[in-house]
Amino acid sequence: MGRKTFESIGNKPLNARFNIILSKSLSQRQANPEGLDNLVVLDSLHTAQQYIEAELGSRVKDNYIVGGRGLYEESIALENMHNVFLTRVNTDVHADVCLD
Ligand SMILES: NC(=O)c1ccc[n+]([C@@H]2O[C@H](COP(=O)([O-])OP(=O)(O)OC[C@H]3O[C@@H](n4cnc5c(N)ncnc54)[C@H](OP(=O)(O)O)[C@@H]3O)[C@@H](O)[C@H]2O)c1
Repeated sequence: MGRKTFESIGNKPLNARFNIILSKSLSQRQANPEGLDNLVVLDSLHTAQQYIEAELGSRVKDNYIVGGRGLYEESIALENMHNVFLTRVNTDVHADVCLD
């Protein structure tokens, strides 16, 4: 997930999953002052792919991109992107971030 998405969920990792935060400005110490073992900050999608292969390997089966916008746009073109899970919510909301 992107740094702003991480901030929007309270600067905490999602439970029971290994969380990769993408940011060029956030340090590992800032993001993870408690030293949790399921959270790492990396500076590009390419670095994240390398990290997953080298460090996580067989520990993870599937990888999910959970936003925000730029990360969705960048990752949807990847050749190993297989599925999009889209939820339609029947309501009108004011959104400050939109995906075309
Ligand atoms: N409805 C949904 O399904 C959904 C899902 C996700 C998020 N959201 C919402 O969307 C909003 C955030 O989305 P957003 O698009 O504004 O921000 P975002 O993608 O969450 O965060 C943007 C930041 O993430 C870092 N980043 C993103 N891609 C990167 C990359 N390839 N390499 C390195 N760093 C990268 C950069 O951080 P630095 O500036 O620190 O370098 C960038 O400024 C929040 O309000 C969130 O709640 C909704």
